[in-house]
Amino acid sequence: MAEAFKNTPPAPEDKGAMTAQNIAAALAGESQASQKYLAFADVADADGYPNVARLFRAVAYAESTHARNHLSVLGGIGTTTENLKAAWGGETFEITEMYPAYDAVAKLQENESAQTSIRYALKAEVDHQGIYDSTLKGVEGEKDLGGEAVRVCPICGHTVIGDAPDECPQCGTAGSFFKEF
Ligand SMILES: [Fe+2]
Repeated sequence: MAEAFKNTPPAPEDKGAMTAQNIAAALAGESQASQKYLAFADVADADGYPNVARLFRAVAYAESTHARNHLSVLGGIGTTTENLKAAWGGETFEITEMYPAYDAVAKLQENESAQTSIRYALKAEVDHQGIYDSTLKGVEGEKDLGGEAVRVCPICGHTVIGDAPDECPQCGTAGSFFKEF
């Protein structure tokens, strides 16, 4: 058999691989459904259907519990130190590889709304990478993050610890609209 085709049929020792791939796909699908329903709930509120909004939020919560269960099955939830490392790694991948590659394609295909969406995400991931990095250093010394508010731009996701800027440096949204955690 040609070398390129050697591994095409599933080898018996990889029989668990399909389930792992399926659970990973289910994790992605359930996560996406949860996000969609939260967005749909906001539209329902704006359209004057608060109880439809409530239904969407409830089902979004249910879908997020499924996503969390799938993530647990995949071994994707660790200690706080492990989780901070994983979170930092995920943000770093998005900054250095994923979004630059996606941005190049979006530019090539002249999709301006995709470029904006990608730029907002990429800039915010840089915020998150830095915050996770400093937070991880603290937790490695068994020190919690300080009690300052974490504030997030509702349009682009720009994330700061402490006071919001007067205006979001990425998208221009007034700091008074930032969501506080
Ligand atoms: Fe923003």
